[in-house]
Amino acid sequence: MGQDAFMEPFGRTRGILQCKIYLLLLGACLGLKVTVPSHTIHGIRGQALYLPVHYGFHTPASDIQIIWLFERLHTMPKYLLGSVNKSVVPDLEFQHKFTMMPPNASLLINPLQFTDEGNYIVKVNIQGNGTLSASQKIQVTVDDPVTKPVVQTQPSSGVVEYVGNMTLTCLVEGGTRLGYQWLKNRRPVHTSSTNSFSPQNNTLRIAPVTKEDIGNYSCLVKNPVSEMESDIITPTIYYGPYGLRVNSDKGLKVGEVFTVDIGEAILFDCSADSYPPNTYSWIQRTDNTTYVIKHGPRLEVASEKIAQKTADYVCCAYNNITGRRDETHFTVIITSVGIEKLAQKGKSLSPLASITGISLFLILSMCLLLLWKKYQPYKVIKQKLEGRPETEYRKAQTFSGHEDALDDFGIYEFVAFPDASGVPRVPARSVPASDGVPGQDLHSTIYEVIQHIPAQQLDRPETGHL
Ligand SMILES: *[C@@H]1O[C@H](CO)[C@@H](O)[C@H](O)[C@H]1NC(C)=O
Ligand SMILES: *[C@@H]1O[C@H](CO)[C@@H](O)[C@H](O)[C@H]1NC(C)=O
Ligand SMILES: *[C@@H]1O[C@H](CO)[C@@H](O)[C@H](O)[C@H]1NC(C)=O
Ligand SMILES: *[C@@H]1O[C@H](CO)[C@@H](O)[C@H](O)[C@H]1NC(C)=O
Ligand SMILES: *[C@@H]1O[C@H](CO)[C@@H](O)[C@H](O)[C@H]1NC(C)=O
Ligand SMILES: *[C@@H]1O[C@H](CO)[C@@H](O)[C@H](O)[C@H]1NC(C)=O
Ligand SMILES: *[C@@H]1O[C@H](CO)[C@@H](O)[C@H](O)[C@H]1NC(C)=O
Ligand SMILES: *[C@@H]1O[C@H](CO)[C@@H](O)[C@H](O)[C@H]1NC(C)=O
Repeated sequence: MGQDAFMEPFGRTRGILQCKIYLLLLGACLGLKVTVPSHTIHGIRGQALYLPVHYGFHTPASDIQIIWLFERLHTMPKYLLGSVNKSVVPDLEFQHKFTMMPPNASLLINPLQFTDEGNYIVKVNIQGNGTLSASQKIQVTVDDPVTKPVVQTQPSSGVVEYVGNMTLTCLVEGGTRLGYQWLKNRRPVHTSSTNSFSPQNNTLRIAPVTKEDIGNYSCLVKNPVSEMESDIITPTIYYGPYGLRVNSDKGLKVGEVFTVDIGEAILFDCSADSYPPNTYSWIQRTDNTTYVIKHGPRLEVASEKIAQKTADYVCCAYNNITGRRDETHFTVIITSVGIEKLAQKGKSLSPLASITGISLFLILSMCLLLLWKKYQPYKVIKQKLEGRPETEYRKAQTFSGHEDALDDFGIYEFVAFPDASGVPRVPARSVPASDGVPGQDLHSTIYEVIQHIPAQQLDRPETGHL
């Protein structure tokens, strides 16, 4: 018995040690376990805040003690209230503010004030076969909810791009611990070469403003307990003109040239992107003189009224706020119907198709020529070469089919002719005969020597292709 009492403290010590190891390894202990769903709780000032706590134990217990303490930075921890079994003993200073219903260890704070911000510590003691205790800490913040922000634009009248700067300011009436975020078309705005934020992020500065800055802006304000977004504002940004172009309802447009049938009336439309809308003017250029013929985005031209076949025009776009202008020149050509049809036909054939067609035609011609040459019976001219002038030899060459420049492409043949005596000429003697055309001579080949002249050869007029 005495031995048991002596051994017990050691056993308990071992048990607590084991418990600590279990806590480390499994996060659970056979003894007492206190848990809180969240270690940080954000409360709203003036409302009730509930700090939930759960605990469990697996040993027989006689007394259950729960204690709540409050600690703020740089101050002593304060006792709030405590309980044994079901009886609560509050600190009389705070007795109306904190409520607990043991054995439920959760704490209710009502109403929550800014001074209630800090750490809340709950300690649970179980008295049974020895004493077990465990504690948890909950951090509580107290905030006022955010009210709806309002965005102010500076300058409110609008900004000219590349000239003016713009500042958007987010104003909020109520709320604590505010965090600002700017959204453009529902996406966050980031710092860039033109965008910058104030240290608090409550103002967005765009310098200089460009057309790309046009969009739907809003300010999103958050704090731990709420968030609110401002109404969307769309700042006025003056820009342009950009992308000036002229189009017409009729006629054929190639580059800046419009081709129209004689007698047709055509409507030209000038457009360019700008804000505010451009003012347009049309200028006609005749010889050296230019004169404004119309104001407004549209111009109607009756082709029969144009004296010449071509007329030059200019469309001028002017933005009276940005002070910038742009102009585009174009030419109107008046044609008869036939010419236009031709032009359209020409247009329908793309240049690539034409090139392909011509190339195919040339290749086919070449193949045909080669085939014709291959199967054509050898042409032989029986002539007396001896003592003949070189010009005559050249004529003889012509008979072998080399009629024009195109035919110069191909295999050259050299035909040696037997003389009247019937004795074949030795090649060595034929070489000097062709000295007049040295280039050809080098690549010549003697294919055959035929002793008779085909009848057709004689019929062919010699001068026909010279
Ligand atoms: C608490 O309750 C247990 C059993 O329910 C009892 O044994 C113990 O005496 C009580 N303690 C106090 C302080 O009332
Ligand atoms: C404690 O009481 C609150 C209500 O006051 C209840 O929602 C909660 O479930 C209780 N917790 C336990 C462990 O019984
Ligand atoms: C108390 O604990 C000791 C050792 O931890 C054990 O031997 C004993 O049976 C326990 N008593 C009760 C009543 O559970
Ligand atoms: C816009 O801002 C730039 C620099 O941030 C400054 O140099 C310029 O004068 C400002 N323009 C206007 C119109 O305020
Ligand atoms: C801006 O908002 C308006 C309606 O409020 C909408 O019609 C427009 O498309 C929006 N612009 C962009 C770029 O989202
Ligand atoms: C300002 O916003 C940027 C992102 O847009 C963010 O990184 C930064 O922390 C914010 N600053 C403050 C003081 O909220
Ligand atoms: C057109 O103007 C240029 C200079 O602007 C001048 O040299 C030229 O002679 C003028 N031609 C006619 C036809 O007036
Ligand atoms: C600019 O032009 C518009 C027409 O596009 C006109 O209504 C406005 O009065 C003009 N403003 C100025 C300052 O000239």
